[in-house]
Amino acid sequence: MAAAPDPELFREVFGRFATGVAVITSAGAAGAGGMTANALCSLSLDPLLALVCFENRARTLPIVREAGRFAVNLLAADQERLAGVFASKLPESEKLDGVPHRLEHDMPVIEGSLAWATCDLRELIAGGDHTIAIGSVLALGLGEGEPLLWYGGHYHTL
Ligand SMILES: Cc1cc2nc3c(=O)[nH]c(=O)nc-3n(C[C@H](O)[C@H](O)[C@H](O)COP(=O)(O)O)c2cc1C
Repeated sequence: MAAAPDPELFREVFGRFATGVAVITSAGAAGAGGMTANALCSLSLDPLLALVCFENRARTLPIVREAGRFAVNLLAADQERLAGVFASKLPESEKLDGVPHRLEHDMPVIEGSLAWATCDLRELIAGGDHTIAIGSVLALGLGEGEPLLWYGGHYHTL
């Protein structure tokens, strides 16, 4: 019988898929917060849909579920420090403290991001130890700069 695929190799294989780095933010009655994410993509052009995968234990997930809305902030190369903050387990309520942001459709959009989108939560789909959130795009915007990248378990720039 063939051996089961090794989870470490799985990490390494998909770690070779170079991505950008985003912070998914949300705010509502359940509080405000956000998490660093790279498991996201555009899903549909008609209608405009985007997809984000949340680990089931991510504290941002119940905030998104309650608010029914989230923002995707694509980080610029000079925002690596923010990627660290939003990847941490700092109390959720403190993550946005001191992070310049404004509200777009009531969702925190981080100043200086390379690009952003606000989405209405359309569907949550179970996917193993993650939950796939499909969002219907409300608004979009472009910032300035170069992207922050994630490859092989490390941050990179172009
Ligand atoms: C580059 C990078 C990409 C990540 N991508 C994801 C992701 O797509 N989905 C996810 O649930 N967690 C991802 N994480 C881990 C979360 O950022 C981390 O678990 C965070 O503490 C979650 O915050 P929260 O519990 O406040 O929601 C990523 C971390 C890093 C550093």
